[in-house]
Amino acid sequence: MALRTLFILLAFSLAVTAHAESAVSYKKDVRPILHDYCLNCHEPGGQGLEKSGLDMSSYQSLMKGTKFGAVIKPGDSFTSIFIQVIEGRVHPSIRMPYGMAGGLSKHNISVLKRWVDQGAKED
Ligand code: HEC
Repeated sequence: MALRTLFILLAFSLAVTAHAESAVSYKKDVRPILHDYCLNCHEPGGQGLEKSGLDMSSYQSLMKGTKFGAVIKPGDSFTSIFIQVIEGRVHPSIRMPYGMAGGLSKHNISVLKRWVDQGAKED
């Protein structure tokens, strides 16, 4: 029991520290990445939207996800498809940005991951 409490306290303080480190902003940090690397295909007229149904031209449509449902689970980057595809964890053939050699930079992946882990909020 005591060990369990200790673990919970530890996990909590880690979460708080990680959060305090740097809060990611949708407008300032996330949207520019989507604009540079995703919107081409994931806005009306783009092949990514056409094929998957995922429209990233607004926060609301991004959160709505694909024709199969949400791709972002706020607070949980590990199970969010949005993060899985940029990390190439689903299948190499659907690594995003589609067809881009090497994929997103480590920095950009980390920004998007932290945004999802911090609750994927609009600001
Ligand atoms: C060159 C065009 C292109 C770009 C750029 C692109 N995508 Fe895609 N995206 C696609 C296509 C095409 C599909 C459908 C893939 C399929 O179903 O085989 C897709 C599907 C997806 C899906 C749904 C995957 C699923 O399992 O349903 C997600 C999430 C996604 N893209 C995220 C992104 C993100 C995030 C970026 C930017 C970092 C991005 N895409 C950039 C073309 C693109």
